[in-house]
Amino acid sequence: MKKYTAEITALIIASVCSVGLTSCERNVPASENSGGNDISTTSSETPEISEIPEIPEIPEISETSPIPEKKIEVIDGITYVNGILIANKSYSLPSSYNPGGLTDETYSAFEELSYAASVDGLDIYISSGFRSYETQDEIYNNYVYWNGQEVADTFSARPGYSEHQTGLAIDVNTIDDSFAGTPEAIWLEENCTDYGFIIRYPQGKQDITGYQYEPWHIRYVGKEVAEALRDASISAGDPTLTLEEYLGIDSYYHN
Ligand code: DAL
Ligand code: ZN
Repeated sequence: MKKYTAEITALIIASVCSVGLTSCERNVPASENSGGNDISTTSSETPEISEIPEIPEIPEISETSPIPEKKIEVIDGITYVNGILIANKSYSLPSSYNPGGLTDETYSAFEELSYAASVDGLDIYISSGFRSYETQDEIYNNYVYWNGQEVADTFSARPGYSEHQTGLAIDVNTIDDSFAGTPEAIWLEENCTDYGFIIRYPQGKQDITGYQYEPWHIRYVGKEVAEALRDASISAGDPTLTLEEYLGIDSYYHN
């Protein structure tokens, strides 16, 4: 709803002046009050307003309101925001949480995705799927050993904080920067939503997700959420809107 009709403008003027008389009052300089009267007087006379107050700039309103209200629940130590399981630097998983592999839904959604890519002549395969707390512990500590903790924290999750422990995340193909810009990476960006996946750590969003760009890391959220996130992205004019931005949550180590 990008254009405002005269009707809407009139409605806005009416609501600014009726619901928020104080706004009108603030917009009328004392010298312009009729007869120099204070219009906030308790007199029952309706004060004359000689000039229509300036209407404040109104932000664009989208057709829908795709950013939902936030509802956080913690069930058995696992955090759900609006029903979506969250594992990031702010919300950890119990070390005992172990679905035993990729969830069935995630795996079959990936099979569909992979098949569709193959029809387009591309090969998208799983390089790393489910990782237990213990496996992540080994991987992370190995990175810390070689790179130091500060650097490791930019690309590897501490044990208990990795999405791979949820059974909902998959690293595809080559897990390094050479994957960016490949036909498979571009195909994923363009099509993964249709299979219920999102590119979880987009470029330029390290301060929000807590991790550098990982074009190979996809997270299964289901088609409905993936599509809602895509709609919110379009609405916000931000093609890389993250799950954190969509849900209004943060991602940083609180300890
Ligand atoms: N590379 C991602 C952030 C992980 O370790 O889970
Ligand atoms: Zn990953």
